[in-house]
Amino acid sequence: MDKLLVHGGSTLSGSINISGSKNASLPILAAALLTDQEVIIERVPDVSDTNYMLQILSALGCEVERYSGTVKIKAAQIHPEAPYDLVRKMRASICVMGPLVARLGRASVSIPGGCVIGDRPIDLHLKGLQAIGAEIDTEGGNILIRAKHGLTGSHVDLRGKHGPTVLGTDNLMMAAVLAKGTTIIESAACEPEVVDLANFLNSMGAKIEGAGSRRITIEGVDELSGTHHTVIPDRIEAGTFMVAGALASPGGITLNRVRQDHLTEATQKLLEAGHDVKFSNDGLSVFVQAGNDPKGCEITTAPHPGFPTDMQAQFTAMFAITPGISVVEDTIFPQRFMHCAELTRMGAHIKVDNGTAKVQGVAQLSAAPVMASDLRASAALVLAGLRARGTTEINRLYHIDRGYEMIDEKLLQLGANVQRVRGSI
Ligand code: EPZ
Repeated sequence: MDKLLVHGGSTLSGSINISGSKNASLPILAAALLTDQEVIIERVPDVSDTNYMLQILSALGCEVERYSGTVKIKAAQIHPEAPYDLVRKMRASICVMGPLVARLGRASVSIPGGCVIGDRPIDLHLKGLQAIGAEIDTEGGNILIRAKHGLTGSHVDLRGKHGPTVLGTDNLMMAAVLAKGTTIIESAACEPEVVDLANFLNSMGAKIEGAGSRRITIEGVDELSGTHHTVIPDRIEAGTFMVAGALASPGGITLNRVRQDHLTEATQKLLEAGHDVKFSNDGLSVFVQAGNDPKGCEITTAPHPGFPTDMQAQFTAMFAITPGISVVEDTIFPQRFMHCAELTRMGAHIKVDNGTAKVQGVAQLSAAPVMASDLRASAALVLAGLRARGTTEINRLYHIDRGYEMIDEKLLQLGANVQRVRGSI
């Protein structure tokens, strides 16, 4: 297993390009199953999660070609069984359910496991598919979905106890595009990645309105055609590097290929914490500079357009060395605090209780060997290492490689002193 050595103390400068969005790419790749014609998707990041999805699509019978960030997929002859050994590796595989049952009238997908950030139920996904006529059974750890009489549009509310579901909204939207009649999704997720999927589907001939709002209307069509689409920038990667700039760049860094309208909450919080954030006129580049008098603040995560749960770990790392008290509450994944124990090993003063972390900033962190546990917690440890005294050794780097394309090369390009050590196994 690879590990990353982060030698603390370097100041960051210069600029990097942000990659295409992992979380937009995954459902869009799955949506290629909805047509027998070729789709071309650009700016798909080369990370293990997108590679898993491409392996799953190949296993379902798709012709898949990938050259640098461009992916070509043709789902001419496909079958409905998603392989257990691949699906169990990545929860987001669940979003092949909707397209498969829409295209083939049935699907068999293994029940996704939980993960360190929560038990990750799929009750809302199943509720949505059942609302448009799918019958659901479970057998041998697989979910079996059948639509013996086809799918018929319906009006369904997808709100769960923690609010809307992103992939649940995606699954239902992808199933509804080929259903008879009209489907209305209430309490839909509004994330930019949902909007990107809707735009992709509409470019294939779907009739979707309201994506980006809490109510999405899908008028079913008979078939979809191929298309050529470019994935939106990864707002979580961008936010992660914005925090890197606030933590370790007195002179400022520039991030290119971002979307200002996707970074509102992260920007607000960095400004509130005393840092400097300036976007280019076209909103496609952002300059972030460490403030001279940073201060702690409060964050409560919420479904988009609220503060993203995928950004709270990174901000917690920043608050660990920000003077004063900061409070971080995660209302979406109340258990998503694995990074705090590791940050504490580095000298942070953090108390986690009942879905909230209370952070007392310290003057200096000290390097330690730490364990990556999930994608964003791992990114938080890298950020903390940039400012720790000594060399922080981050083990189980595969967690980061799931969702950050060439993170070590990007950090080196910004002047960080990091080194990837290839593991033996
Ligand atoms: C997506 O996961 C993202 N993943 C996650 O990013 C992100 O943290 C999450 O949305 C929330 O924004 C991808 O897009 C691939 P949800 P998703 O369904 O869709 C509960 C990362 O770091 N829920 O929106 O699986 C659930 O437990 C990843 O890139 C149900 O109760 O999340 C959670 O509390 C991590 N029943 C809340 O809803 C369901 O059927 C939101 O989950 C589904 C979800």
